[in-house]
Amino acid sequence: MKHTDIAKVLRDASLMGQEVTVCGWVRTARDSAAVAFLEITDGTSFSRLQVVVDKNNLSLDPECTKCGASVRAKGIVVKAFKGDGAELNATEVTLLGKCPSEYPIQKKRTTLDFLRGIPHLRLRTNTFAAVFRVRSVAAQAVHRYFHERGYYYINTPLITASDCEGAGEMFRVTTQPWDAKYESEEAYYKDDFFGKKAGLSVSGQLEGEVAATALGRIYTFGPSFRAENSNTTRHLAEFWHIEPEIAFAELPDVLEVAEEMVKYLIRAVLSECPEEIAFFDKFMEPGLRDKLTHVAESEFGVLDYTEAIEILKKADREFKFPVEWGCDLQTEHERYITEEVFKKPVFVVNYPKEIKSFYMKQNADGKTVAAADLLVPGVGEIIGGSEREADPDKLLAAMKVRGMDLSAYEQYISLRTFGTVPHGGFGLGFERFVMYVTGMENIRDVTLFPRTVKNIM
Ligand code: 4AD
Repeated sequence: MKHTDIAKVLRDASLMGQEVTVCGWVRTARDSAAVAFLEITDGTSFSRLQVVVDKNNLSLDPECTKCGASVRAKGIVVKAFKGDGAELNATEVTLLGKCPSEYPIQKKRTTLDFLRGIPHLRLRTNTFAAVFRVRSVAAQAVHRYFHERGYYYINTPLITASDCEGAGEMFRVTTQPWDAKYESEEAYYKDDFFGKKAGLSVSGQLEGEVAATALGRIYTFGPSFRAENSNTTRHLAEFWHIEPEIAFAELPDVLEVAEEMVKYLIRAVLSECPEEIAFFDKFMEPGLRDKLTHVAESEFGVLDYTEAIEILKKADREFKFPVEWGCDLQTEHERYITEEVFKKPVFVVNYPKEIKSFYMKQNADGKTVAAADLLVPGVGEIIGGSEREADPDKLLAAMKVRGMDLSAYEQYISLRTFGTVPHGGFGLGFERFVMYVTGMENIRDVTLFPRTVKNIM
């Protein structure tokens, strides 16, 4: 169907006085005996186009004035009555699809909670359309960032036999119905599709290391799956994960890339989505634009885990989870550090080895590993990364301490025997990043069809 994007009609001055055809959904309509004003949107821009219908010259199907109806309008682009923009003086308006009056997306603002119940329609609201435009711009910027710096884009398997994080949060993949005849788990999986226990990948990192130790610099951008029983505003069972992996790199190199990438993505969103950011600034997080501009220009903090514990212990506040060296940082701790102490993004580095994954480089102190989490105000952790353990003996020892099944990681371990190199990388949770740049407070609201505990729509 030949038509012009509303974004183009609104922005392209050369269309003034020209005849165009636009298509869209009616967001609001004012109708009188002589004239009707239809505000329509086609998703291409934050602003809507006003279509003016002179009813003395044009008969208008009353169905076209119903909120949610889809229409095609032909007409002349003219200067808007109010402001500097454009509007359309219609010469023809055709109804494409009727919409009943029970349409749930009406003019009045509806709650995010209510909209979560209608994921198939919520993108028609300003808020969700803006979130998904920002999400798309950020995703394109991810690929641009890495491509411009010579990283190769790698696709790692989604079905895997090895649990990268070793946290037992893998969804199982099986074609086997349960049958009581099996005496052991091993016998059961032997008959399964892959002949062994398989699951959905929690991270592409282990395969990413394979690629980086041949190609130098790679990144993945795909879904990861976690069967975490965490019904929080920051956890999804299926999220999108950006994971660069860099050969010949130590922890400070990894932090440098992470900081530069986050700032690059923020700048892309600020420059490509000004209307969306202005909207979020007004309705979701006052001060958002200044926050993002400031973050893109300032240096991120770096804090040793041990110092973080000291800061938390001295804090004049009761935490729900007590703080002791060796404890994992909870969201309340992360947010205190980044929101109240640093007031900007901060990397916490060198965590106790017991609370981190087996693959992280063991520091000379024998107690900590070269890990880094990036914490940001409002969200908490958005990046987890590390330098990887390059020494095969130390890696094996760490795996044995954790009682891991070494047979599932033979190839991974052998990378350390065949020309091992210092290397590292990180994972950015894409939805958490989108929350940070839009000010949306619930991860379900930056995801098209969120999958969470006891919820799949
Ligand atoms: O800290 P994580 O578990 O690190 C890894 O998976 C490493 N293998 C990454 C790497 O070094 N290549 O996860 C990385 C990030 C987190 O900081 C968070 O932003 C996001 O992934 N994430 C989730 N996002 C939404 N829902 C969940 N359940 C998430 N779990 C992790």
